[in-house]
Amino acid sequence: MVTVHLSVICCLLSVLSVTCASVEEENPEFWRSLAQDTLRSALSRTLNTNVAKNVVLFLGDGMGVTTITAARILKGQLQNRTGEETVMNMDKFPYVGLAKTYSVDFQIADSASTATAYLCGVKTNLNVVGVSAAARNGVCRSQKGNEVTSILKWAKDAGKSVGIVTTTRVQHATPAASYAHSASRTWYSDADLPSAAVTDGCVDIAVQLISNTDIDVIIGGGRKYMTPKGFPDPEYPTHVSAQGQRKDQRNLIDEWLNMKQEKVARYVWNKTDFDAVDPEKTDYLMALFEPGDLRFDVERDTRMDPSIAETTEKAIRILKKNPNGFFLLVEGKQTNKQTSVHHMIHESIQIRSQVDVLIRRIMTVEHRWRCMRRSLLTTLLPGRSS
Ligand SMILES: *[C@@H]1O[C@H](CO)[C@@H](O)[C@H](O)[C@H]1NC(C)=O
Ligand SMILES: *[C@@H]1O[C@H](CO)[C@@H](O)[C@H](O)[C@H]1NC(C)=O
Repeated sequence: MVTVHLSVICCLLSVLSVTCASVEEENPEFWRSLAQDTLRSALSRTLNTNVAKNVVLFLGDGMGVTTITAARILKGQLQNRTGEETVMNMDKFPYVGLAKTYSVDFQIADSASTATAYLCGVKTNLNVVGVSAAARNGVCRSQKGNEVTSILKWAKDAGKSVGIVTTTRVQHATPAASYAHSASRTWYSDADLPSAAVTDGCVDIAVQLISNTDIDVIIGGGRKYMTPKGFPDPEYPTHVSAQGQRKDQRNLIDEWLNMKQEKVARYVWNKTDFDAVDPEKTDYLMALFEPGDLRFDVERDTRMDPSIAETTEKAIRILKKNPNGFFLLVEGKQTNKQTSVHHMIHESIQIRSQVDVLIRRIMTVEHRWRCMRRSLLTTLLPGRSS
């Protein structure tokens, strides 16, 4: 037994990088004074009882505590330190909360049920968005009367501006739970609706994007669910898989623009046009940078697609013109559908540091942001998408 254990340990040691403790880490006083500092700063904090005017919900889909730990270590190691001692911006937030976001019918939750849990406050079944657990996965008829509303709609009803920024398609489960009600997360366009769902009157998620809550800023991917079947993609005109998918031949982008004629509404699909959007003069923005999900940050074509920090910043600049405030959901896909753990953790640091940059940039140009930063809601939710 002992031999086996030793060999396992040796093996682990050869895989993980082993470094000697620094001189200060050998001193018990070093750790005790660190703990005292932490306690002192926690005790000196005064409770903020203000009512938040603006809420930004940053969501790292699938980014649980373990991924955050790995990202923290790697971030330090990339700076040639041992890693564990690294302090990320999010480690410095004054308040941390943990919430359970499980689905009621399946042990491993997915983005649809978890997004419904944290956006609508209602736990539900796997694969359904914006409906209670009385609705059954894939059964259109069961969704009627079981719709649940989200914080995005509550914010809009309260007179605030609202937006979604994601690195997935905007019809994907996480953003969808903020505006749609669907017995299946996969009903992206009408081409995805089974015939029973059509007969029973269910509407695809892309149509709900433009016809449910009036969303001021929509940024992500998912062009192909908005355009007629065979409609060539502007960026990849020769790719068949990038073509429009809608069987009903509707062009939801044009319809959305037509609905906003009284206001200044812009649709863009590339970075040049996105950069040219003046947030001061724009009421509505829809930006769809890919036919489906956006590419991972390391693979992003930086000439064609802006970073999540750039999109979030522009979204905030458009939304904050509303004196009643705003609600913004920002989703960075990172730990889903990854081919390697290495890739996943790098993406996690990428997005983390972009959000850090973003917070700093906005703080310097806009000191009113200080009030807003206090209302930052950070969620550490182990969602999982398959
Ligand atoms: C870390 O060390 C490597 C190799 O010595 C060096 O090339 C690299 O620039 C260093 N990185 C930082 C962030 O200091
Ligand atoms: C960006 O989109 C606009 C509008 O479709 C188009 O005119 C322009 O050529 C595009 N820019 C690039 C770099 O593809």
